[in-house]
Amino acid sequence: MGKIPDLIFYQTLPVLKNEKIADKFFILSLQTAEMARGAFPGQFAMLKPERSSVLLGRPYSVYKREGDILSFLYKIYGKGSRELSRVKSGEKINIWGPLGKGFQETSLREWAFVAGGVGVAPFLFLAQEAPKNISMTLYFGIKNKDQAILQKEFEDLNCKVIFVTEDGSYGEKGWVTDAVKKFLDQKLKTQNSKLIPIELFTCGPRLMEKAVAQLAQEYHLRCQVAFEEYMGCGLGTCMGCVVKCHNGKEGQYERVCREGPVFMADHIVWE
Ligand SMILES: Cc1cc2nc3c(=O)[nH]c(=O)nc-3n(C[C@H](O)[C@H](O)[C@H](O)COP(=O)(O)OP(=O)(O)OC[C@H]3O[C@@H](n4cnc5c(N)ncnc54)[C@H](O)[C@@H]3O)c2cc1C
Ligand code: FES
Repeated sequence: MGKIPDLIFYQTLPVLKNEKIADKFFILSLQTAEMARGAFPGQFAMLKPERSSVLLGRPYSVYKREGDILSFLYKIYGKGSRELSRVKSGEKINIWGPLGKGFQETSLREWAFVAGGVGVAPFLFLAQEAPKNISMTLYFGIKNKDQAILQKEFEDLNCKVIFVTEDGSYGEKGWVTDAVKKFLDQKLKTQNSKLIPIELFTCGPRLMEKAVAQLAQEYHLRCQVAFEEYMGCGLGTCMGCVVKCHNGKEGQYERVCREGPVFMADHIVWE
C-alpha cells in the first residue's frame, strides 16, 4: 500500500457489467488482469467511454477486485459520468491506471472509515485487502434511505456499517462526523488511556473531510484522507489537481493524482 505504481496501463476494454444500484449510483466492471494485479486500495483509474464527447477521462477509485476483474462505483454528476452510465455490457471504454498512491500501512488494528456519499468507493477494496485481525467500522453519511447501499458488501467483509442520514430516514440522524465523535467519546470513557488506538480513513465532500481531520487532531488520531479533486491529465503533468500541504516550505502544493489521492490529514493545509 501507499506507493506510486510501477506500471500504468492504457487499455480499451469491453465493459462486463454497468449496473444501476440506486438512483444515480452505478457499478461498472471490467476484466483487466494487468491492472487488477497491480492495484492497491486507494488508487484510481481514469475512465472514458470509447465513443465520448468529453475530452478528458474521469478519475474513479478502485471499488472492488475479484481476480482479474476491477469494479468502480460511481455517481452521476455531469456529462462524463452520465455518458459512462449509458455504456452497455460489451461496449468499450478507455481506461488508464492504476494511478496515484494508495492508503498507507498502519500498525493500528482498529479502523474507522468515514464516508460521505460516493466517497465510500475506496473503502470496500481497503476492507477486502485488510489483514484478518482488523476491526473495521464504516460510518456512512448519506442524504436519505434511498442511498443506503452496500451494507451487505461491507458486512460480508466483517466491516460493521453505521448509516447516518441528514433527514433521519435511515440509521442515525445528523452529520456523520457527530456519530464518529460520539463513538470516540464513548471509547475514551471505557478506557484508561487518553490515546485511542484507532486509525481514521475518510473520503467524501471536502468540508466533511476537513471536519474529520479536525476530529483526528482533537483526539490525537492518525487519519488518512482520500481526495476526490478535479483532475486533468491524471498523470502528474498538468498541475490541475494540486492541494496545499505542510512539507517544510511555505505554500507548497502536491498533486492529488501523483503524491495522493491519499494523504495524512495533518499533512494538508485545510483552508
Ligand atoms: C482520485 C479520485 C477518485 C474519485 N473516485 C470517485 C469514485 O470512486 N466514484 C465517483 O463517483 N466519483 C469519484 N471521483 C469524482 C469523479 O471523478 C467526478 O465526480 C467526475 O469527474 C465528475 O465528472 P462529470 O463529467 O460527471 O461531472 P462534471 O461535468 O465534471 O461536473 C458536473 C457538476 O457536478 C459537480 N461535481 C462533479 N464532481 C463532483 C464531486 N465529486 N463532488 C461534488 N460535485 C461534483 C461539478 O461541480 C459540476 O457542477 C473521484 C475523483 C478523484 C480525483
Ligand atoms: S491531474 Fe494533471 S497533474 Fe494531477
